Amino acid sequence: MRNSITLLEERFGPGKEAITARAPGRVNLIGEHTDYNGGYVLPFAIDRETVVTMRPRKDRIIRAYAAAFDETFEASLPLDIPNPTGSWSDYLIGILLEMQTRASLPFGFDADITGDVPLGAGLSSSASLEVALTLSLSYLYNIKLEDLELIKLCQRAENRFVGTQSGIMDQFVSLLARDRSALLLDTTSLKHRYIPLPLQGLKLLIVDSAVRRSLSKSAYNDRRRECQEALQLFRKSTPKREIRSLSDLSLDDLRRARDTIPKTLMMRAQHVIEENIRVLETVNALEHEDLTTVGKLLFASHASLRTLFQVSTKELDYLVDWGRNHGALGARLVGGGFGGVTLHLVPQDLVAKYTQNITIAYQEAFGLNATTIEVRPSPGAKELESR
Ligand code: GLA
Repeated sequence: MRNSITLLEERFGPGKEAITARAPGRVNLIGEHTDYNGGYVLPFAIDRETVVTMRPRKDRIIRAYAAAFDETFEASLPLDIPNPTGSWSDYLIGILLEMQTRASLPFGFDADITGDVPLGAGLSSSASLEVALTLSLSYLYNIKLEDLELIKLCQRAENRFVGTQSGIMDQFVSLLARDRSALLLDTTSLKHRYIPLPLQGLKLLIVDSAVRRSLSKSAYNDRRRECQEALQLFRKSTPKREIRSLSDLSLDDLRRARDTIPKTLMMRAQHVIEENIRVLETVNALEHEDLTTVGKLLFASHASLRTLFQVSTKELDYLVDWGRNHGALGARLVGGGFGGVTLHLVPQDLVAKYTQNITIAYQEAFGLNATTIEVRPSPGAKELESR
């Protein structure tokens, strides 16, 4: 990547001194569709990041160039509330609208946005953009934001303006991840702790299905609504107990409610409850350096996302099944689903052959090019900043 300050000057000419903020994308090891259900997640940040370089202007104009789209967004502050357009600039607008409610933004800026997180693939390019933007704006305007405040501001921008009802996992890990570790987050208490990832000769391989589906489109929000509906019904059926989220339920609760709750909603709830158990089992297996068990739990998570939560696709299933038959210890879809990437836990000495053969097989099966990248559990924006 070229020096981002040089890029900013090449694009907008010389100006005041610039600041830079970086934030990584993430892979969720396990704990999918649990973060908006009060459950556990176990993501790690990856060695791919979004870089935002910004410098102040004398007037109130803002100009932001996004290299990935070769597009410049221009507006002036204070920002009116426009309609979202579905483009990358929705994230910038969403963040600015949230920042405006927090503090006054008395001058404009020029910004350059670059990065190497694959876009819309399930690796949280959007959360990395939100976190990098918010950090750079907080430096530029000298606004002090506590970690959790920053994370929630980013999540609100995405929920309110961009229109995806996403949970808190992606922004949390993009800011607070630690090198060589996964982050266990309890999304009810928001307590977290770091779990070292001992890879012991295994590699974390991302295989991209090349099928894209924007999260803000209906499917993700549909699942969120179904979980909400299931929760209301469980609350009605047990009025004496406080049920804060689906994660407060047990498998016994589920069995008891068998006849009163529609089957689809039961399937969603079952996924959430069992996925929470799998997250804790994964933590336990990692603490015992038992990666064989971790691998099995990844396969089990995928199976549940396919059959109970129904967010997989035939392409994602193919990649995961291929992995099972060709030496992966574990594999599963990552992120919201309906396309995007799969994670594979593969012995190091198999990686070259695995990468080559899965690409050929996928091309034959679907006529699509499955790109693979190896990822490393990496520092979050905060640790990057302090280095
Ligand atoms: C997306 C959302 C996250 C989470 C995952 C599914 O990545 O942004 O908050 O809900 O989907 O686990």
